[in-house]
Amino acid sequence: MFQAPRGTQDVLPEDQPYLAAIEATIRRLSDLYGYRRMDTPIFESTSLYVRGIGEGTDVVDKEMYSFEDKGGDSLTLRPEYTAGIMRAYLEHGMHTRPQPVKVYSIGPIFRYERPQAGRFRQHTQVNVEAIGEADPALDAEVMALAAQLYRSLGFQGLSFQVNSIGCPVCRPGYVHGLVEYYEQHRQAICPDCQRRLARNPLRLLDCKEDRCQPVIEAAPRMEEALCPACSRHFALVLSYLDRLGLSYVLNHRLVRGLDYYTRTVFEVWAGGIGAQNAVGGGGRYDGLAEALGGPATPGVGFASGVERIVMLMRQQNLPVATPPEPPILVATQGDEAKAVGVSLVSAWREQGVGALLAFGERSLRAQLRQANRAGNRYVVIIGAEELANGVVAVRDMASGEQESVPLAGVVEALGARVRTPQETDD
Ligand code: HAM
Repeated sequence: MFQAPRGTQDVLPEDQPYLAAIEATIRRLSDLYGYRRMDTPIFESTSLYVRGIGEGTDVVDKEMYSFEDKGGDSLTLRPEYTAGIMRAYLEHGMHTRPQPVKVYSIGPIFRYERPQAGRFRQHTQVNVEAIGEADPALDAEVMALAAQLYRSLGFQGLSFQVNSIGCPVCRPGYVHGLVEYYEQHRQAICPDCQRRLARNPLRLLDCKEDRCQPVIEAAPRMEEALCPACSRHFALVLSYLDRLGLSYVLNHRLVRGLDYYTRTVFEVWAGGIGAQNAVGGGGRYDGLAEALGGPATPGVGFASGVERIVMLMRQQNLPVATPPEPPILVATQGDEAKAVGVSLVSAWREQGVGALLAFGERSLRAQLRQANRAGNRYVVIIGAEELANGVVAVRDMASGEQESVPLAGVVEALGARVRTPQETDD
């Protein structure tokens, strides 16, 4: 038997209401905040991600699903949205539109990671980007949108972790100091950090190994090294968050896993989604456009893993609306009755009334059981006797009452009844 590839998941019909709730919420909030939907290809040039996300990141070094297509081009399945959205912004000259260009997306993301609870090789992201504006109020807006997304879905107990990682003016000096400091503690740190020291020193700060913790705690802090412009930007972002009443934790170790970030970075943490506790993350990326060969263009954005949101929704028993069962089921006995049933359900559906036909050759009793289990409100029964008399029997499954209705008028009569809200007994 085949199985879904490791790290992938099927989203069965009963899981879909969660996705629908998340999609409906992001769509509603995007309208409120003025974000428009935008879609980019599921694969892009490999070099887009190498240049955008950066060599030395786990995503580029280890996790990309890259392949050569039949024309010999190296392509990569989307490992995140931001680089592709920025590529499209530049390609379509979107700088000529009113700035910032504010967009959201939702779709599959691919990363070759070691699968575990909450970590998959294919996951789904809700992603928002606001490109073309450096105003710190925009950083706060993106974070407010993230907060409202989670709040609207009913979450409690999430924590916003916030930091500033500076810019090309102040960060190199900080990283230099960090490397010097780490050189003195080389023997105390884990093998991964030895590698990070050479490849991606900022990532030293979010090592989870026990033995590295004291070294991290005593390490120099970025906030003390921020240049005046970054310092002012960060202070303004925090003042807006305060004004919005959005509580956050200043986390000087928060550095994120993608190289394009400048200034503001943030993550939203939650308990109970496995070893990964970030349900969402984002930040500002004022250097990304230039890294892709475009003109200097600031931007800020955020993404959240849909599967992680769903895990949390289940854990916190958050309600989701399930789609309604069609109110009518037509149960028939014999070929002639089945033919009448085929026409009846079709007539209701054409009128916008949900109706099911019971298939197969089961007894009427079995067909009624089906309706009872599924929760169809009315069962329309067509047996030999009904056919002979030109009627159908309509059973109200809520009250158990059954009445005889002329076949010629049943589409109208029952259609009208299910269109008006019914009182239910429960
Ligand atoms: P990221 O932190 O790499 O950021 O991913 C965003 C979110 O996607 C994570 O917080 C997590 O919920 C989810 N996620 C990531 N990897 C996995 C995985 N293997 N399995 C399940 N869920 C996962 C970005 O991708 C940035 N592009 C976000 C951004 C947008 N920054 C600015 N704009």
